[in-house]
Amino acid sequence: MDPAERVEELRSIIRHHNRLYYEQDSPELPDSEFDLLMRELMELEESYPELATDDSPSRVVGGFASTTFDPVEHRVPMMSLDNVFSAEELEAWGGRLARRVDEIGASGRTVELVAELKIDGLAVSIRYENGQLVQAATRGDGRTGEDVTANVRTISVLPHTLPAGAPEVIEVRGEVYMSIEMFKALNDTQADLGKPLFVNPRNTAAGSLRQKDPAVTASRNLSFWSYQLGEVVGGPELANHHETFEFLASLGFPVNPEVTVLGSLNDAYAHCNKWEQHRHDLAYEIDGVVIKVNDLGLQRELGATAKAPRWAIAYKFPPEERTTKLLDIQVSIGRTGRATPFACLEPVFVGGSTVALATLHNQDQVGVKDVRPGDTVIVRKAGDVIPEVVGPVLSERPDGLEPWVFPTNCPVCGHVLVRPEDESVHRCLNLACPARVAGAIEHFASRGAMDIKGLGEQRVQLFCELGLLRDVGDVYALEADRLREIDKFQDVSVNKLLDAIEGSKSRPLANLLVGLNIRHLSGAGSLALATHFGHLDAIQNASEEELAAVEGVGAVIARSVHDWFADDSNLGVVAKLRAAGVNLEGPAVSELPQNLVGLSVVVTGSLAGFTRDEAEVAVKARGGKSPGSVSKKTTAVVVGSDPGASKVTKAEELGIPILDEAGFLHVLETGTLPG
Ligand code: IVH
Repeated sequence: MDPAERVEELRSIIRHHNRLYYEQDSPELPDSEFDLLMRELMELEESYPELATDDSPSRVVGGFASTTFDPVEHRVPMMSLDNVFSAEELEAWGGRLARRVDEIGASGRTVELVAELKIDGLAVSIRYENGQLVQAATRGDGRTGEDVTANVRTISVLPHTLPAGAPEVIEVRGEVYMSIEMFKALNDTQADLGKPLFVNPRNTAAGSLRQKDPAVTASRNLSFWSYQLGEVVGGPELANHHETFEFLASLGFPVNPEVTVLGSLNDAYAHCNKWEQHRHDLAYEIDGVVIKVNDLGLQRELGATAKAPRWAIAYKFPPEERTTKLLDIQVSIGRTGRATPFACLEPVFVGGSTVALATLHNQDQVGVKDVRPGDTVIVRKAGDVIPEVVGPVLSERPDGLEPWVFPTNCPVCGHVLVRPEDESVHRCLNLACPARVAGAIEHFASRGAMDIKGLGEQRVQLFCELGLLRDVGDVYALEADRLREIDKFQDVSVNKLLDAIEGSKSRPLANLLVGLNIRHLSGAGSLALATHFGHLDAIQNASEEELAAVEGVGAVIARSVHDWFADDSNLGVVAKLRAAGVNLEGPAVSELPQNLVGLSVVVTGSLAGFTRDEAEVAVKARGGKSPGSVSKKTTAVVVGSDPGASKVTKAEELGIPILDEAGFLHVLETGTLPG
């Protein structure tokens, strides 16, 4: 395409998305893709200077003031920031900065830098006159913003009155944001009400601030970090940016604690890198790090381009949201027969890995998100969290795309899928469904249960297809000769697998109970039954009432366990396990052993068999401590899925043993760390 045409096209696309982002708070593109468009435009304008114009969106701050709120003229313009995306680009900015420092005759001066977090919210300027909050405005186009005073007044962390001695006029600038906790709570409510979900905390914060009714804003619990000053009349002489933060804090404004004065640009990159790794340790979202020249005098001398100051730069993190094509929605069947829809995506690199599949949880979630095969969708992968389809890009939806319909039959065995009235989940009720059988065997071999290394999803699948496994009892009947006949299965791996199977025979009774895949019976319940009854036979022979009387085992679990042992095919499984010499005994005490006295076990992340509370109760019930944070006194840290990164990092730093769920069960049973 002719560069002039492409430049025009890019400007029009960017203006369209600017409008969606700033005016309607409903962006259709993730920021990362918007940044790419802007980059392309800037590069073209640089290569073809004759195409550059003053009103290009590359030169003006993106927002447009809308008609919903009164306009407010910013006496000091609210500028945007230039972005960099890599160490090289950051270095190039440093180079430009150094040249500029030379040009203004300040060479030889050490240029101290301050790094702060780039909060993913929206910028506002709040004006105080004679100590009273009188006006608050959004950034708008940088010169004119929108009057959102009534709404900003509802932000509880902001002072309405400043302490005596505050400047006659002071404009405090910063970022309004929504905490992740608040965002999740809001979306939980939306889901309960069957309403569409909010896409991310930033858009939700922006939408919440631009409500006509301040009561709605108030209900959204918005927060604020201050980081700049606008117009100031009668304030103290501040020498550097760092002092600005101290001054803001002294007036009662929230100041983000993560502000660091840096010696050099090298430190700046290391700092950005650190925050890229730790961004999810925070209670709010950030999309980068902002580096600013500390000396306010030097800032003034360095000045600004039409759009952004030369004394600051935003180092943006790689995207955690990207768009891609939703190729299909399929349904997988789990060990309990649960039918889970999942998205088959055109592979996309996002959040540090390539994503081709993402769960859609259940029918209602697909409905709420209204994603349809053929849609362009936004995919999000944040840190260790599993990838998620956020929603469709509606402007890209091809005509005539029909809503997706949940299949009526199990895709594996063809049985009718059933969704009980009060549940959100469809199930395949066919106990012999190959997907259920394989899922149950995989679960038996998994780490939280019998922990058989080498018996993962693919091998279980293969052995089932070959007719070697029909239930978990068959695991102990696998024979070396038969396994060696299987293509590509080498002696070493056969021996390793058989050793692992042999080793699993002595797992504690609680692990075996977990592995039996009894509906509703969690790790905590298994442990309670194992310690109370001391033997699988005693559990099998117990009445429903006796089972329900055990602490931590309610009527639902008791009924489920009792029903399980009343089923002949399950008794057949138990017979196979017994014949194979699998341990059926637990600690033979009716009271919990106080084997964790003096130990402190911290639990982080979710475990398959325990909620966080259950895990803590299990430790405390055995005489141990289970505090909420890691210290030198911690004996071990149990790490489930989606753990708090700070706890894991701290444990690593202090050299404290990290355990998985199987290790946790071992500690509970024996009072000692796994060897
Ligand atoms: S300073 C003249 N500091 O990022 C400098 N901005 O992409 C003005 N932002 O409009 C901005 N955290 O909405 C600054 N610590 C921070 C920030 C920050 C987030 C936002 C702000 C700004 C945008 C530019």
